[in-house]
Amino acid sequence: IKVVVPAHPLVKHWVSVLRNRDTPTAAFKTGVAELGRTLTYEATKDWLPTVTKEVQSPLGACFVESIDETQPIMIVPILRAGLAFAEHATSLLPSTKTFHLGMARDEKTLQPSVYLNKLPDQFPDGCRILLMDPMLATSGTMAAAIELIKDRGADVEQIRIISAITCPPAIERLRKKFPGISVYVAAVDPVLNEKGFMIPGLGDAGDRIYG
Ligand code: PRP
Repeated sequence: IKVVVPAHPLVKHWVSVLRNRDTPTAAFKTGVAELGRTLTYEATKDWLPTVTKEVQSPLGACFVESIDETQPIMIVPILRAGLAFAEHATSLLPSTKTFHLGMARDEKTLQPSVYLNKLPDQFPDGCRILLMDPMLATSGTMAAAIELIKDRGADVEQIRIISAITCPPAIERLRKKFPGISVYVAAVDPVLNEKGFMIPGLGDAGDRIYG
């Protein structure tokens, strides 16, 4: 497994906004979306297919390198919190397709269940997938999402997870099940408590975004 914690000051800044319990709903939602934007930038900077073509500038012909729009990045947000987190990824990246997954974790058993699945029957061969959820606590939700994506032909090595906060047990579980996967995350918190909350964490992201 590859775990990357980008050192960008904006990553730290937006985490500071999200951790603060006094951040109101609107500012919290903005912070989730901005953190998602910055992490998407960091996670894709060595990963976007490009093409070289000739264009005419106002002063003449030149060769330019641009994003290969025939190879869109597949974005999979895990609802609800992942929806706000992925908000700017679709405008930051010139060529994307978005497939929503609605998943809820039972508060007592901590088991995930799927209530919406808009994944394609089959992902194109070799496609790149950004799987976005701001919280990886037990990572039970994320592991179930990866299984669903794998079932549709995706290569785990071509999946990059983008998350805000995770913790060592979540990483360990993903490492055991999906050793070839990559995780881009803003912070790794030391503790996962018995209720499945990370400490210090940021509380329940979905509830703080949607009130
Ligand atoms: C939260 C969070 C993750 C999941 C993390 O969502 O956004 O999806 O729990 O927990 P896990 O790693 O232990 O599985 P929740 O189920 O509360 O749904 P919501 O986004 O609609 O609030």
